[in-house]
Amino acid sequence: MTTFDETLPIIAEILKRHKADLSDMDWLLVNRDLKGKIRLIAPVEVSESKLAPTLEEIAKELESRLGDRAYPAEYAILYDENREDACKGASLFPLEGFDNIEVADRLPVSGNWLSFAREDSGAPLVVFFSVKGGVGRSTAIAASALSLAQKGKKVLVLDMDLASPGLSSALLPENRRPEYGIVDWLIEDLVGNGNFILDRMYAKSDIIRDEEVFVVPAHGREPGEYVSKLGRAWMPVVRDDGATESWPQRLRRMVDELKKALDPEIVLIDSRSGIDDLASACVTDLGARLILLFAFDDEQTWTGHQILFRHWRHASVARKIRERLQLVAAMMPETDTLERLEEMREAGYELFAAEMYDAIPPGEMIEERWNFEESDEFAPHSPWLIRRHQGFTSLKTLRGRLSKIEESTVAHVFGPLIQGLGELIEERDSDG
Ligand SMILES: Nc1ncnc2c1ncn2[C@@H]1O[C@H](COP(=O)(O)OP(=O)(O)OP(=O)(O)O)[C@@H](O)[C@H]1O
Ligand SMILES: [Mg+2]
Repeated sequence: MTTFDETLPIIAEILKRHKADLSDMDWLLVNRDLKGKIRLIAPVEVSESKLAPTLEEIAKELESRLGDRAYPAEYAILYDENREDACKGASLFPLEGFDNIEVADRLPVSGNWLSFAREDSGAPLVVFFSVKGGVGRSTAIAASALSLAQKGKKVLVLDMDLASPGLSSALLPENRRPEYGIVDWLIEDLVGNGNFILDRMYAKSDIIRDEEVFVVPAHGREPGEYVSKLGRAWMPVVRDDGATESWPQRLRRMVDELKKALDPEIVLIDSRSGIDDLASACVTDLGARLILLFAFDDEQTWTGHQILFRHWRHASVARKIRERLQLVAAMMPETDTLERLEEMREAGYELFAAEMYDAIPPGEMIEERWNFEESDEFAPHSPWLIRRHQGFTSLKTLRGRLSKIEESTVAHVFGPLIQGLGELIEERDSDG
C-alpha cells in the first residue's frame, strides 16, 4: 500500500529517471484527483510523438509503485490540447526538481491555502489569524480599531468568523446593529443582488464620540435563517462572461465594494481560526498586506504553523506570502513577560528559519537573502507583544468597558500591535 504522503516523492523519483526525455515537453501535469489518485495529463501532440512510449512506460511504473493511488496504466494518461483547460479547477504547484512538470491538485473544498490574491493597492488589509481559537484575536481587533480611531483614523472591521461570530457585539450595541451581515451579502450575491444590501450591512461604533470605526457583522440584527444561509454562502457563481467565481473571490469582491463605499484607511479582518476553509479565504484570497499569526507558546500552535508553512514551501508559494507574515505573542501572562517573549522569539526563529527564510550559502551575507538574525526585533519571527490584562477578560462585556479603559492601559496591553497598524497606514500615506 502507498499512503497519500508517499505518493509525490515516488512520482518525482520515477519521473527523474526519465528526465532527459521529459525535458522536451512543454508541460506535463501530475493530476491528483479528489480521492488522491494519480494520472498524467500531457499535450495532445505528444500522443503521436516518440515520447508516447516513454509516458506509457511511466504509467506502468506508476501503477506498480503506487498501487491503488494510481490509475491502471491503460487509463493513466490523458491528453489535452490546451494546458489551461487541463488545469481548470485545480490548484497548481511545481513538482520538486522540475521546471515543466506541475501537480494539478483537485480538492473537494475551496480552501487550498495556495491561491494568493494580489495585494490590494488601496487601504491595507490586515488579517487576524490564529491556528487555535480563544487567543484574543477579536479582543485585539476591537481594542486596536478603537485606538486607531482615537488617533483620527478611519477603520473598517469585518467579522469573518462566520461560523462563530462575536466581534460585532464587542463594538456595537444591540440597537445599532445593521440590518444585514456578510452572510446575507454572500447569499444575495448568488442571485446578483449583493449590492442592494451593501449600505445596510455596516454600522458605526459609538464607543467613543466622533470615532470612525465601521463594523460589518457576520449577520444582521435578526440572524434570520442563518444556518440555511451559511450552508449556501460557499457557492460559486457563474458570471455573465461564463467564468466561474469561487466564493472566496466573491468575498474579495464584497470587501472591494465596501472599501469603495466607505473609503477606510485600514481594513481589519477577524478571521476564523485553524486550518479551515474560511480561514484560508481570509489569509490567501483577500489580498492581505499583513497576516498576523496570533500564537501561544505551546506545541499545538507551533505544529499548526509548521504544517501551514511547510504546505506553502512545498507548493513553492512561500515567497508570495512570507513578507506578509508577523507573529504575535497573544495574551502574555503578567509574570516573567519579557523572558517568555524571548523564549517565544527563539521558537519563532526556529520555525521561520526552517520553513521560510532563505538559506545563506557560504560566502554570502545575510542582507543578500530573505533572512533575519534571531535577535532582530523587526523580523517577522519576533513576536509583537500583547499582554494579558484583567480589563480584557470578557469579550461580552468589552463594549461597556472599552469606553472606560484608559488609553494608556490599551497602549500598555496592545502597544506593538497598535503601533504596527499605525505604521501600515503611514506607509500607504507616504506612498501616496
Ligand atoms: N489581552 C487580554 N487579556 C486578558 N484576557 C483577554 C485578552 N484578550 C482576550 N482576552 C479574553 O480571552 C478570551 C478569548 O478572547 P477572544 O474572544 O478575543 O479570542 P478569539 O481568538 O477571538 O477567540 P475565538 O477563537 O473564540 O474567536 C475572552 O474571554 C477575552 O475576554
Ligand atoms: Mg474571535
